[in-house]
Amino acid sequence: MFARAWDFLTSVTDMSNLPDAAGTEIAFAGRSNVGKSSLINALTGRKGLARTSSTPGRTQMLNFFIAPDTPLTIVDMPGYGYAQAPKELVEAWTQLVFSYLRGRPNLRRVILLIDSRHGIKKNDLEAMDLLDKAAVVYQVVLTKSDKIKPTQLARLISDTQALLAKRIAAHPLIVATSSEKNLGIDELRAELCLLANQ
Ligand code: GTP
Ligand code: MG
Repeated sequence: MFARAWDFLTSVTDMSNLPDAAGTEIAFAGRSNVGKSSLINALTGRKGLARTSSTPGRTQMLNFFIAPDTPLTIVDMPGYGYAQAPKELVEAWTQLVFSYLRGRPNLRRVILLIDSRHGIKKNDLEAMDLLDKAAVVYQVVLTKSDKIKPTQLARLISDTQALLAKRIAAHPLIVATSSEKNLGIDELRAELCLLANQ
């Protein structure tokens, strides 16, 4: 299903407008500017599918994309933790993201993106707490791996593995990616295909 064209389904700003909870859903979550939209474009092979920007706060709604021949949707979400945006906006986005993560019945996995340069921050731990409580499986994907040295990346992977081992709903596999240099993309795509076909 990753070999053919994905399509935009809908964008929503509040929980009452979510599309029907049909098929498998996989959501991409993480701090603002971590590379969620870029990763979706790399995985689907459609550069302009999800809008990206060097300015944090680009994605402001839940954007749903639908696979061509499988009942699978992926969701691009607003980032959390963007300190420069107006307080009410940040609260509205965080509220939307967290209510969606907590209450979506067909949400099979959350891809939790972590910037390789920054590692896991306080608000990532808060997102993990929420997902642990809601029993939604989350999988850490490191982004922008082209920005750090291989030795630093190896250390980050083992530190992250140690941290995840203590968490209830964390998937043990960590995938390091670079959307820019196309690293780890095939591996993650294969993992998501497996999930969608289960
Ligand atoms: P919000 O929607 O604002 O939360 O951001 P986002 O998480 O969707 O990030 P987005 O994909 O828009 O990317 C943010 C910036 O990071 C852009 O300038 C991208 O070009 C850059 N970026 C994304 N992935 C990579 C990567 O693998 N390597 C490098 N070097 N830059 C990347
Ligand atoms: Mg985005």
